[in-house]
Amino acid sequence: MYQIIDKQILAPAIKQFIVCAPDIAKKAQPGQFIILRIDDIGERIPLTIADFDRQSGTITLIFQEVGRTTYEMGKLDAGDYILDLVGPLGKASEIEPYGHVVCIGGGVGVAPVYPITRALKQAGNRVTSIIGARSKEHLILKDEMAAVSDELFVATDDGSEGQKGFVSDVLAQVIRQSDSIDLVVAIGPLPMMKAVSAVTKPFEIHTTVSLNPIMVDGTGMCGACRVSVGDETKFACVDGPEFDGHLVDWQLAQQRARMFTNEEGIAMKGFCAGGECQCQK
Ligand code: FES
Repeated sequence: MYQIIDKQILAPAIKQFIVCAPDIAKKAQPGQFIILRIDDIGERIPLTIADFDRQSGTITLIFQEVGRTTYEMGKLDAGDYILDLVGPLGKASEIEPYGHVVCIGGGVGVAPVYPITRALKQAGNRVTSIIGARSKEHLILKDEMAAVSDELFVATDDGSEGQKGFVSDVLAQVIRQSDSIDLVVAIGPLPMMKAVSAVTKPFEIHTTVSLNPIMVDGTGMCGACRVSVGDETKFACVDGPEFDGHLVDWQLAQQRARMFTNEEGIAMKGFCAGGECQCQK
């Protein structure tokens, strides 16, 4: 059992837990994730480790309420417990002095990009960051990202903060205005990571994306997290979660992400019928 030490609401439907998990905090590296189960009948969901504090033995989890499990998680409070946490899983991000890197986070994807950005900055890179959300109120970790970046750009779909448009639009401008970019790291919804990879491909800028498909065992045994990268089958839980954005089969990734939409709808209906949620589904 893992106790939630602190809970914050970062934006509508985006919540942050600080969880006491000393064994995971001790080994966690930027880019890695955990799989959790909130109770013994709960599904297993992967969440990227948004931060870790080895001294206090805590990890930070940031999640968006999008389905039954995340809505149920959102109802937990500081002092409550999560039944299982397995991790850290996956390969850590490759942190090296590349030169000029652009770190991009879209929506709740800003959470996993933050520790990677911080590590890239600490490794001596010049860091340009771009974060985006639907609107100003949905933006998360803006101050934290600014603190670990040489420059920070913001994009919102409705123009309520920063530039109106998508992070990929801002990236195109940054590429036009920069002498050189050595690496782009993008984490967010699949269409956003696909768009970023399409922007960088003609310029041959190496682009790393982080895939977060459906996962079950997290050990490469079940095949649930299968993705196709460079025409090879990979398992995101053990071969990833980071992959070369120019090699990912985005169509297959999007298709597989929609695989359980009906089942999720049924699970949400049961949850909503209980009168416990305010999801307006
Ligand atoms: S989650 Fe089962 S193989 Fe990756």
